[in-house]
Amino acid sequence: MPAPEPDVPARVLIFDTSLRDGEQAPGFTMSAAQKVLLARALEELGVDVIEAGFPRSSPADHAAVQAIAREVRGCRIAALARCHPEDIAAAASALAPAAHPRIHVFISTSPLHREHKLGLDRAQVLERAVMGVRLARSHVDDVEFSAEDATRTEPEFLAEVFSAAVEAGATTLNVPDTVGYATPADLRALFEYLRAHVRGAERVVFSAHCHDDLGLGVANSLAAIEGGARQVECTINGIGERAGNAAMEEVVMALKVRGAFYRADTGIRTRRLLATSRLLSQITGMHVQRNKAIVGQNAFAHESGIHQHGMLKNRNTYEIMRPQDVGWEDSQLVLGRHSGRAAVADRVRRLGYVLDEAQLDRLIADAKALTQTQHVVSDRDLQRLIEGEAIGPGWRIAGMQLSDSGHGAHAQVQLSDPDGRRVVQAADGQGPVEALFAALSRATGVDFVLETYEVHSMGIGPDARGEANLSARIDGTLMTGQGTSRDVLEASAIAWLDVANRVLRERAPRAEAALA
Ligand code: KIV
Ligand code: ZN
Repeated sequence: MPAPEPDVPARVLIFDTSLRDGEQAPGFTMSAAQKVLLARALEELGVDVIEAGFPRSSPADHAAVQAIAREVRGCRIAALARCHPEDIAAAASALAPAAHPRIHVFISTSPLHREHKLGLDRAQVLERAVMGVRLARSHVDDVEFSAEDATRTEPEFLAEVFSAAVEAGATTLNVPDTVGYATPADLRALFEYLRAHVRGAERVVFSAHCHDDLGLGVANSLAAIEGGARQVECTINGIGERAGNAAMEEVVMALKVRGAFYRADTGIRTRRLLATSRLLSQITGMHVQRNKAIVGQNAFAHESGIHQHGMLKNRNTYEIMRPQDVGWEDSQLVLGRHSGRAAVADRVRRLGYVLDEAQLDRLIADAKALTQTQHVVSDRDLQRLIEGEAIGPGWRIAGMQLSDSGHGAHAQVQLSDPDGRRVVQAADGQGPVEALFAALSRATGVDFVLETYEVHSMGIGPDARGEANLSARIDGTLMTGQGTSRDVLEASAIAWLDVANRVLRERAPRAEAALA
């Protein structure tokens, strides 16, 4: 009698689209250099595929995909393309330096999209899908085909398009719930149906791509796995179009914590989840809400007396996973004048960055220089130094004085401009914040109207710091900025300059492309 098959958990591939679907969302624009930083962190996290961008959408996106393809060699790099020859050519050329390139072609298949978006009938959509897959296969062996708005497509037509895509050479079939409309039961049933009805289903990987419009992105991704999906498309912190995509950290930890139920696992190094989440927040200036699962400030905080009592007796009473398993740690290492290379390298890694030796050397020199003027080097200082090197020069605050008579305020700011020159400007306002922002605007020549402005304190006691977050819509694009300092007004000035620097970088896309 043959030995019974061991019950080995299925391996689910993690396809991260933070740099494509995520970056598409308002407020999440990243420079090419920032994208490379995040891509390196994703590789370190253990994702299987990084969707690096949509090269045909802009020269900057093309340059960013190319830079990532050159630098990130340990996982697959995907580039998105419509089923248009020019898109596919752009994706192929951006991916040329990649060690493991994947072209991801897509076309809408639902009746709504066919009629109102494409003006094509079923036969024409099918023909274009086949053309797109064939052309992509002429460039690379790894081709993913997505049927946009798949969950609102007639199932038998979806199976027909997918069968044709497999025949044309697709190796992954992606089922996007583009508008976040499906329920978990729908998704599970759809995957079961497709696995039974797509010709050649056994030769391809089925993939789920779930949006979160009804807050079901993660639940739908898990249901898709139950139905046989073996790739999940997701983003760090759940960023993405509209309400976002399925959050990677939640999908991964659900599979891990409920392993006995799902019988599926990923290759993610879960201890890197928090660092990667924070790196993304730092790069985009967009913070996750405190109660966000896995990576929010409160995810492992126990406030009520009853819970604390239970936790002290046995952590399992109120914790279903160990905070350390997703990267939370108990101790905070403080870096000062006497800290060595190993301590800085360790801190940098914990912050989510992957630096080469030369970058680390420069960072250590800069951090040592900082200790001439301040006792300790905080995480934020390190992030600013690394980001400053990665994104190039920008406006920095060198000093500020504020006075408020009660009838009006006056602010004077001393800044260093992107070339390191000193600029001094002053302005008045009804209150100190208005005067400060007016002086900054006068000094930098950048003007914008704030959409949101929030200040809160981080920590208590002598080490407390203020954090400012602000956002502004500039030429239709939402820009966010973030700053921290002992002084909340200085934190506000840093956050304002963060936005101004993003605006200036946006206005200089050519320099950006050259950097990549
Ligand atoms: O949501 C969607 O349909 C997409 C596709 C391009 C995969 O992002
Ligand atoms: Zn999407």
